Amino acid sequence: MRSNAQLAEFHDHAPQEDSFRDAVLEGLARSRKAIPCRFLYDARGSALFDEICRVPEYYPTRTELRILEDRAGEIAALIGPHCQLIEFGSGSSIKVRTLLDALDADAYVPVDISRDHLRRAADDLAADFPNLDVVAICADYHHPFRLPSRPVRGRRFGFFPGSTIGNFEPDEAVDFLAMCADLLGDGGAMLVGIDLKKDAAILDAAYDDAAGVTAKFSLNLLARANRELGADFDITRFAHDAHYEEGAGRVEIYIRSLVHQKVIIAGRRFHLAQGERIHTEYSYKYTIPEFRDLARSAGFRPTMSWTDADDLFSVHYLETGG
Ligand code: AVJ
Repeated sequence: MRSNAQLAEFHDHAPQEDSFRDAVLEGLARSRKAIPCRFLYDARGSALFDEICRVPEYYPTRTELRILEDRAGEIAALIGPHCQLIEFGSGSSIKVRTLLDALDADAYVPVDISRDHLRRAADDLAADFPNLDVVAICADYHHPFRLPSRPVRGRRFGFFPGSTIGNFEPDEAVDFLAMCADLLGDGGAMLVGIDLKKDAAILDAAYDDAAGVTAKFSLNLLARANRELGADFDITRFAHDAHYEEGAGRVEIYIRSLVHQKVIIAGRRFHLAQGERIHTEYSYKYTIPEFRDLARSAGFRPTMSWTDADDLFSVHYLETGG
């Protein structure tokens, strides 16, 4: 038993924080410049992402939430009593509340790399669900991590909402899901949210909203480099560039240099040609059969797949072997 039932238990498995510098210096030295999308989520980036979730063009968040609300009872019946719910990349832990209201969960294990955000979200949740054992794990969920050693009475139930899996290359998505299957063990299950392939115009608008919130989110990478690495990016000389590539089945997101320019980062000089792009993110989209096949390649048995009335988004219930 925890001594203070209002607070979450906190486990810190996070790697050292020097990696942003290495990633920027290495990524900008390449002929095709790139900065990995995980660096979008510093405190400012996480707040901007929460704002993206509220712009009218960005349908995934509200659509997924609606599916979860509609299906929560059904999901609870599938998973059964006393589960341990593990969320990969829990962020503000908003969507999981819908599940927790319906599930008979003994424990909630949010896993996130953003330490302060995680601590706040986990404590808020522990206060709101006093009978729930909340054990926060600060870790990079892309790599294997250890679960709390408590005995689990029901099943382990993974939760990976938001189509975050779309940031992986499809073969990496398979590896990630295989790691999840391993972590959840025999008799485990997993709920995954996947954005669906659709008309390019809807996707283009969702990733370049009229209010410019997504642009700000994207360009925050350069602002972050200025704040943390003493870089001298002039943000006004860059633009957000996002579009759906139908053939590749993904939204491709770049930061485009509007002029020929040089920047200095940690004493190193980098040149950008006019129109040159820094790749920041892919957001892969799937059809329902494509995603179910992908889950099967990872060793899961897909059972239920739910979608909204407009077929914008999907939620999948997967079972491990055993
Ligand atoms: C967090 C990966 C789900 O791909 O829709 C949103 C990130 N980037 N707008 C997505 C994102 C720009 C988002 N995911």
